[in-house]
Amino acid sequence: MSGEILVTGGTGYIGSHTVIELLKADYDVVIIDNFSNSSMKVIDRIEKITDKRPILINTDLLNKENIYDVFEKFSFSSVIHFAGLKAVGESVNNPLKYYYTNIASTVNLCEVMTAFDVKNFIFSSSATVYSAQNKMPINEDGNLGPNNPYGRTKLFIEEMLSDLYQSDSNWKITLLRYFNPVGAHESGLIGESPNGTPNNLMPFITSVAVGKQKNLKVFGSDYNTKDGTGVRDYIHVIDLAKGHVQALKHNCEPGIKTYNLGTGKGYSVLEVVKTFQLVNGVNVPYEIVDRRPGDIPISYADVTKAKDQLNWNAEKGIIEMCKDAWNWQKNNPNGYN
Ligand code: WQD
Repeated sequence: MSGEILVTGGTGYIGSHTVIELLKADYDVVIIDNFSNSSMKVIDRIEKITDKRPILINTDLLNKENIYDVFEKFSFSSVIHFAGLKAVGESVNNPLKYYYTNIASTVNLCEVMTAFDVKNFIFSSSATVYSAQNKMPINEDGNLGPNNPYGRTKLFIEEMLSDLYQSDSNWKITLLRYFNPVGAHESGLIGESPNGTPNNLMPFITSVAVGKQKNLKVFGSDYNTKDGTGVRDYIHVIDLAKGHVQALKHNCEPGIKTYNLGTGKGYSVLEVVKTFQLVNGVNVPYEIVDRRPGDIPISYADVTKAKDQLNWNAEKGIIEMCKDAWNWQKNNPNGYN
């Protein structure tokens, strides 16, 4: 199918890595981004890596008229929707901002897609839609029940897209539930650049290693896990990006399908810290503190379905994740700032 691929939030962490894999696969890419949580520099970095410059539209999905104008200019074959707010802690303190931004922008996008009969949709969802009560590994039929507003916006959007398909069976929708994305492109030119103090483990580790934070606080060491610290399914962002290209290629039949994108392996906080120190030859001082409210002890994916149906599985291991995360941070101590 000809036509451009629209990538909303395409200059963000996962969006930018996915744009690179799309360009490498010879897709024509148009990015919509409002730069609320990313930098214009990413476009230059993408061009440097791929020798191709995606078309960039600097606007906000909350401005429906602007989105309509974008769809008038291009003949999109599919949409990959990353744009949205994603900080768990912030969502607890400012739930209305999250519900409005994440849900209203997706409604706008789907209404304009309908108007232009563009009904191929890949949605950036999250493992945070799963409840804490699931046996490991978690498969796509696991119990749902996010414990924060951010995760609830993802679940509500999944439900909304299911209703959309029930109302119009021409839609081809794929929901991708990410586990814990980490790492960066091997060039060290693009990577995770959180605003302010990082919330997530790996960017906090790299910020300690580069000297921006004094030490890592390990949130709890009394979980029922191999070393008492939390276990997660970390997945290299390049593997995640490739998963989107595979999802796009397989999003050919009407319907709505859900896939976990993870590695199927769990690593504890201390395993990640020790691996990071070993492979990079850097010190990451840490102290054990109380558990973080809302954290679950263990989370890792059953990735059978994506392997069987998308012909995709993660290839990069924790060593490469730690190397690439550090390569990005040491070459960009202040991210894109
Ligand atoms: C991982 C582990 C912490 C920081 C997040 C969010 C959401 C999602 C990605 C998109 C846990 C421990 C962390 C620190 C620590 N994104 N930790 N000290 O909470 O699994 O989920 O994943 O959907 O952003 O849902 O990721 O990286 O915050 O925590 O000890 O300073 O590291 O307790 O065990 P999380 P995380």
